Amino acid sequence: MSLKIIVTGGAGFIGSNFIFHMLKAHPDYKIICVDKLTYAGNLDTLKEVIAQEKINFFRIDICDREKIFALFERERPDVIINFAAESHVDRSINDPGIFLFTNTLGTGVLLDACVKFGIKRYHQVSTDEVYGDLPLDRPDLFFTEKTPLKTSSPYSASKASADLLTLAYNRTYKLPVSISRCSNNYGPYHFPEKLIPLMIINALHDKPLPVYGQGLNVRDWLYVEDHCRAIDLIIHDEGSVGEIYNIGGHNEMRNIDIVKLICRELGKPESLIKFVEDRKGHDLRYAIDPEKIYMRLGWLPATRFAEGIKKTIKWYLENKSWWERLIKL
Ligand SMILES: NC(=O)c1ccc[n+]([C@@H]2O[C@H](COP(=O)([O-])OP(=O)(O)OC[C@H]3O[C@@H](n4cnc5c(N)ncnc54)[C@H](O)[C@@H]3O)[C@@H](O)[C@H]2O)c1
Repeated sequence: MSLKIIVTGGAGFIGSNFIFHMLKAHPDYKIICVDKLTYAGNLDTLKEVIAQEKINFFRIDICDREKIFALFERERPDVIINFAAESHVDRSINDPGIFLFTNTLGTGVLLDACVKFGIKRYHQVSTDEVYGDLPLDRPDLFFTEKTPLKTSSPYSASKASADLLTLAYNRTYKLPVSISRCSNNYGPYHFPEKLIPLMIINALHDKPLPVYGQGLNVRDWLYVEDHCRAIDLIIHDEGSVGEIYNIGGHNEMRNIDIVKLICRELGKPESLIKFVEDRKGHDLRYAIDPEKIYMRLGWLPATRFAEGIKKTIKWYLENKSWWERLIKL
């Protein structure tokens, strides 16, 4: 059955990759992208699929109740996948307010529209950061879906609030929702303020590579296409209503090792690395146990980090025009 899907935040990193994935996997679906086009939203990414009328695009803020309700009334979507968010932890430390608006209240507006107009599924794209962090000296510990929420930054707190709201709408209004909590993504179309693209671009320009603290913080990295495939599986599984899934690749790496690897791949000296004052409240280690999504939906990551990072670096080398406009070096 063909579905009409609203993808919010589809001009951002993961949302745009998700749109490309869906156009390939389900060419008969109607995709509507809703995005406010903040500094992180880039319509260049979608220009070809918009020009070819493969998707419809609407510039709307998800906090704008009137416009969101009018869109739902007109389009009557089957599925909503909410990627729209302020997503940069450092920005949330400097200016938390907008995170509460978009990430929490904006989610509330979408949920209200879903209740009013009726949908087949609302999917909330969440993050492993809602669980807080794990100690560096306990590699045996992982986040499961039952790990208590224990947020560290305004970003993760706003995302955790959105998760709770989503679950409350399931319980109270029987809204068919699902939630996925993914580890760090990397891949094409990643905004150049985030670790991997920032390091690639700075290294290419022989600029310093700023690393927080001693670079010992550990993140679990997943190639973005694997995340998109997981969401595709969840939204098509009727048994996933009311469920939360952790998504991760068992690919834990220290920040410093990622940066050194990028230097090696680009033939740049490690002397470019510059340790800078640590981020306030910096989470030490994230590590996902993806057992549930594997057991229930058969999902496993397809791209190993060694291969994914090469593909990502190649993409940044071949798509300079995409990122050059976005940076002030
Ligand atoms: N990047 C990661 O590693 C990662 C990991 C796990 C979960 N997530 C989650 O995935 C989602 C997407 O992350 P991303 O890295 O693609 O973020 P991004 O910052 O690249 O993209 C966010 C998009 O949302 C849009 N947006 C922001 N505020 C909006 C608003 N009020 N109304 C409509 N659109 C708005 C932006 O214009 C942008 O296009 C987020 O919800 C994030 O919390 C990200």
